[in-house]
Amino acid sequence: MKSLLKITVSIFVLVALISCGDKTKRSVQYMPDMYRPVPYEAYSTNPNFKDGLSSQKPVVGTIARGQSPYDYPNTEAGYNAAKLDFKSPLDSTMVDLNKGKKLFKIYCAICHGNKGNGQSVLSKRDKFNGVPNYKDRDITEGSIYHVIMYGRGVMGSHASQLRDEERWQVVHYVQSLKNDLTK
Ligand code: HEC
Repeated sequence: MKSLLKITVSIFVLVALISCGDKTKRSVQYMPDMYRPVPYEAYSTNPNFKDGLSSQKPVVGTIARGQSPYDYPNTEAGYNAAKLDFKSPLDSTMVDLNKGKKLFKIYCAICHGNKGNGQSVLSKRDKFNGVPNYKDRDITEGSIYHVIMYGRGVMGSHASQLRDEERWQVVHYVQSLKNDLTK
């Protein structure tokens, strides 16, 4: 009982002492580096860069770790070259149509429709027009990959949504949809 009283009194005294401190002055900080980091803050100025900013974009052409560079340019010639020459690195054991289907449903079906025939929610409601039926397009694995990378016409690029291997899974799934449509 005595010790409980002692503890209560000492807590009271401690709280009283702390609360009597000068509120306009910064008190002792525990590990101040947690509040004021040693590296440059994201939005602070930084004399080491020409534009004086700490936040820098990656250098043009930077490839994320584990990704491959894509050398075909975003031109009609690039599209045609990819259509002819660019081949999938996935062999038949690595192709996973279920994965391709999942990704297609997330990123493509909203415009292309689950079957790839262009009959999607958006085209039926006249919200997005000009979506082709894959059956009517002369597409190859290379051209599909190219279109995912850069987009085509009113379709935008999907390069940032899909990683390299995922793009190829979608490419194979689009080809399987086209096969089903042309049966
Ligand atoms: C916002 C709607 C939209 C989305 C989302 C979309 N597309 Fe498209 N896509 C289009 C339109 C519109 C065209 C026709 C472009 C043209 O030829 O002008 C097209 C064309 C294509 C073509 C044919 C291009 C050619 O070479 O003729 C392919 C292949 C294709 N899309 C694949 C995909 C894939 C794969 C995805 C998902 C990663 C996707 N699209 C997402 C609207 C979309």
